[in-house]
Amino acid sequence: MSLDAVLARIDADLPAATERLLELLRIPSISTDPAFKADCERAADWLVKDLQSLGVDASKRLTPGHPMVMGHVPGDGPHLLFYGHYDVQPVDPLELWDRDPFDPQVEDTPKGRVIRGRGAADDKGQLMTFIEACRAWKAENGSLPCSITFFLEGEEESGSPSLVPFMHAHKDALTADLALICDTGLFDSRVPAITTMLRGLLGEELTITGPDKDLHSGMYGGAAQNPIRVLARIIAALHDHTGRITVPGFYDGVPEITDELRAQWDGLGFDHTAFLSDVGLGRLAGEDGRSALEMLWSRPTCEVNGIIGGYTGDGFKTVLPSKASAKISFRLVGTQDPCAIRESFRKMVTEMLPPDCTVEFTGHGASQAGSFDTSGPAFEAARQALSDEWPDPAAYIGCGGSIPIAGHFQDITDTTPMLIGFGKDDDQIHSPNEKYDMESFHKGIRSWARILDALT
Ligand code: BES
Ligand code: ZN
Repeated sequence: MSLDAVLARIDADLPAATERLLELLRIPSISTDPAFKADCERAADWLVKDLQSLGVDASKRLTPGHPMVMGHVPGDGPHLLFYGHYDVQPVDPLELWDRDPFDPQVEDTPKGRVIRGRGAADDKGQLMTFIEACRAWKAENGSLPCSITFFLEGEEESGSPSLVPFMHAHKDALTADLALICDTGLFDSRVPAITTMLRGLLGEELTITGPDKDLHSGMYGGAAQNPIRVLARIIAALHDHTGRITVPGFYDGVPEITDELRAQWDGLGFDHTAFLSDVGLGRLAGEDGRSALEMLWSRPTCEVNGIIGGYTGDGFKTVLPSKASAKISFRLVGTQDPCAIRESFRKMVTEMLPPDCTVEFTGHGASQAGSFDTSGPAFEAARQALSDEWPDPAAYIGCGGSIPIAGHFQDITDTTPMLIGFGKDDDQIHSPNEKYDMESFHKGIRSWARILDALT
């Protein structure tokens, strides 16, 4: 077998591969919104059919939420598992999109050719890089290079509620020598990456209730408690003036990075000014005295993701609202314990409540940070394979996002995760006008072919 032949076939097949991706992108598989349940099913069906066309024994596996897609091909050599997710984030605010998010298109931009549409980079484009590499491999060689299990999830963007029970129930089928996860990014457009650290995530929603109904703010204002003001006070108290988070015990289990790791990250020459200027900013926020990469990859955060309360429609209404709520997420590192932090956060909020106010909490997922062992020979092989495809050698990097399944592979199936992806910082994942560079897609497919060649 020749890797060159597989790579040549990938190049020749790129237009058809792009068409297949566009087809998948047309399915609005928004997992968090029940209105799109049938579309999640459709995306799963589409993937089952596509995998079957590669000779994979694939099927939809039902869960209490959206289905998983699982499939297996037997073979010699290592048993590889591939994970990606077919669900996508909601598209709002829709008016900020330049096109229909589910009518994807290939566009030429000043920075190159892109595939634009919801899910292009997170994660449909990425998961198709692996499937397309397998397709080209099979077309050239008649079979896939080794034993491969495909495991595609439809609930990643909504906190993976069905994942852990599913993994326990299918533990044997999901145990492999290596779990390849394609849901992360490059370091930059020249430097491919293997991600070795992910932050954990804790989601909390709180609703503060004051008066038992909305009131006239002239008739009651001043004498009656306003829950939005209470909420604002609580939110403001979550950080001190140096950017540190004030929840008691929050920093338990947060390690300082080693001098070696700091030197390695400094060596990457990350330009935080360019990173921020891409999103219309100029100054580093956050904790005093910490570098951007350090804050993104190795420090915990507390961010307010949304606030709801009172009158938010057009015009003006002099209302003193009955309720105010906020969605707050914490990114976690090291061995920070999400459950302990949840408890401490709730206690802190409750203690700050004035008389006459009550609070209700809803939890939205809790996952610990992960850090992954890269000492096995497969990592050096994959790193070399990536370095052969991209202009500069591959780097080991951290990631500020969260992919809870990586930790579950370690804990539940005792399978080492290897996180490789081809997204770029300006892909606008979760935002309007999401895109995936054609270069990410094309070189991503070629990278997997090289990695499969190197691992088998
Ligand atoms: N693909 C992302 C994770 C990611 C984010 C990778 C940024 C690289 C850079 C993933 O789909 C995601 O968005 N995860 C969620 C977690 C989830 C529990 C909702 C996240 O990080 O917010
Ligand atoms: Zn995402």
